[in-house]
Amino acid sequence: MRILVIHGPNLQLLGKREPGVYGKKTLKQIDDEIRKHAKSLGVTVTTFQSNHEGDIVDKIGSSMGEFDAIIINPGAYTHTSVAIRDAISGAGLPAVEVHLSNVHAREEFRRHSYVAPVCKGSICGFGSMSYVLAIDALVGRA
Ligand code: DQA
Repeated sequence: MRILVIHGPNLQLLGKREPGVYGKKTLKQIDDEIRKHAKSLGVTVTTFQSNHEGDIVDKIGSSMGEFDAIIINPGAYTHTSVAIRDAISGAGLPAVEVHLSNVHAREEFRRHSYVAPVCKGSICGFGSMSYVLAIDALVGRA
């Protein structure tokens, strides 16, 4: 199985950005953790981070044939982007939405996700473990 992991805007700042909300791990540490877990299951992972909505749409659009599934933390675009939602649904690959924080326990505007209806499921609130759980869900261990 080949999984594309997409990190959306501002996630390159993890470790420095609101550590009380998002934890102290850097994006590189999280990517290493994801890769290590994937490897232990015989899964190949490609990680991608962008602050640009169109770049994320392009990446999802070119995922067909290259990947078998998508894990996406769309960051703030979760709550705004019809374009990312349409890209996920157009790609036709199983996708899992993840968030480090529990978006339901925060501001009201974070409770709505444009991407959730086109994903197989959503995992939030477990920090970097949210990504690890998403891998487990996709390989059928959940
Ligand atoms: C986030 C939650 C979003 O509401 C926020 O805009 C982010 C990060 C998370 O991983 O908890 O940038 O996706």
